[in-house]
Amino acid sequence: MAGKILVVDDEKDMLTLFQRIIKENTGHEVAVENDPLKAVERLRTDSFDLVFTDLKMPKMSGIKLLEKIKEIRSNASVVVMTAYGTIETAVEATHKGAFDYITKPFQRERILLTIEKVMKWQEVLGENVALRRALAEKEGFSTIVGTSPIMRDIFRCIRQAAPTMGTVLITGPSGTGKELIARAIHEHSLRYTGKMITVNCTAIPENVMESELFGHVKGAFTGAWKDKKGLVEAAHLGTLFLDEVGDLKPWLQTKLLRLLQEGEYKPVGSEITRKADIRFIAATNHDLRADIQEKRFREDLFYRLNVIRFELPPLKEKKQDIPLLTYHFLKKYTALNGKNITEISGNAMKALMQQEYPGNVRELENIIERGVIFCSTNTLKLKDLSLDDQHASLFSNLAPDLFRLSFREAKDKVIHMFHSQYIQTLLSESGGNVSRAADTAGIQRQYLHRLMKEVNIDAEDFKVGKSTSRETDFESSS
Ligand SMILES: Nc1ncnc2c1ncn2[C@@H]1O[C@H](COP(=O)(O)OP(=O)(O)OP(=O)(O)O)[C@@H](O)[C@H]1O
Ligand SMILES: [Mg+2]
Repeated sequence: MAGKILVVDDEKDMLTLFQRIIKENTGHEVAVENDPLKAVERLRTDSFDLVFTDLKMPKMSGIKLLEKIKEIRSNASVVVMTAYGTIETAVEATHKGAFDYITKPFQRERILLTIEKVMKWQEVLGENVALRRALAEKEGFSTIVGTSPIMRDIFRCIRQAAPTMGTVLITGPSGTGKELIARAIHEHSLRYTGKMITVNCTAIPENVMESELFGHVKGAFTGAWKDKKGLVEAAHLGTLFLDEVGDLKPWLQTKLLRLLQEGEYKPVGSEITRKADIRFIAATNHDLRADIQEKRFREDLFYRLNVIRFELPPLKEKKQDIPLLTYHFLKKYTALNGKNITEISGNAMKALMQQEYPGNVRELENIIERGVIFCSTNTLKLKDLSLDDQHASLFSNLAPDLFRLSFREAKDKVIHMFHSQYIQTLLSESGGNVSRAADTAGIQRQYLHRLMKEVNIDAEDFKVGKSTSRETDFESSS
């Protein structure tokens, strides 16, 4: 991307230097100003992607200029330039929204690297704006958001698959939008006037699953004191969504297969075969092929389901959708909470882009929801988002009171937990053989003995033939 850069410094030599470096090494446009007041005027009429500004200038400080820029051109990235002695002010500038700072004397490479970083970031922001427009236009999938190639592909497949009767199998890790896609397919199908009935194969206990699915007749079993319709009947002329189908028990898989193959089923306790006109969509986060190998999933059922396949990627494989998803959830949760938050600070967005998201889109959604609740201005800021607290929560899972203890006590407690857990694992692996355990751990046998005594562990308990599950959970051992 060819961008526009403005350099503001009261020293003319500096301006010339920057102009030369940028012109000779990049394809970006560059303008210079030696008077910050003029720079402000210029920013009102002209847009820039990046502004380099000196911190110490006679008419207006760099910090003041930074604040002005954030007012007039909130999307421009500002990099402050500072002499060695004023690093603290530079750091303050980054807290006030500067993208970065560079220190004098300047190195050409450092300047170029900074420009590259900013332009990449501007590209994301630019897309973001375009995406927000796309969001407003609603491509017919108002609830599903994404413009990454993978998502474009998915939208195209939904359009193609929805109007057919083809059975759909949606796979992907938890929180990637499987249910969302299922609903979109139903809503874009010719059956949209019918219902989409969801069967959560994990949530319904095995012993009532058959009757939940197929219904039962009066007297079929104790407690069946009248006929009851099942979910299959409710989905007639509509869509049956079999969520978490990989968790269905094999004998129920067989009954499901019959329904898929012949469109027929029998309510529990009935001899009369019934017919149902149903479109099937199934979802799972299992690897069904592995389940087939291990005889947990029927191969013939898999092929019945796997006619049209959607494979949803984890969020980390479509990071470019994060800004759009973030704005989507921001809109959703500001409306739900009656708040007026319209912007997301650059730092917050940067941090969101860098998260790991093992819980995928659902995790991002939860982060934004929490952020909206804690945000008290019209801009969602980094401090509103509780990010990077994995370590804190790891410890608070181990010991909820940890952060109420003194440093000494907390540290002793964690070390105690570590010793106890480590030694137990070590000894169960060595079958209670202390010499071998010490060897594996690379410590002296005597030292291991001392530690065992400290955390009250007896090697005897780990000898073969004895129970190895000592009940030394963290609480009771400390
Ligand atoms: N592309 C997307 N656009 C907007 N929201 C999304 C998107 N993908 C997922 N979500 C949201 O993320 C949350 C999780 O999605 P969903 O329940 O469909 O995931 P799932 O794959 O079925 O997860 P699980 O396997 O845990 O059931 C939902 O609130 C959903 O609306
Ligand atoms: Mg789901």
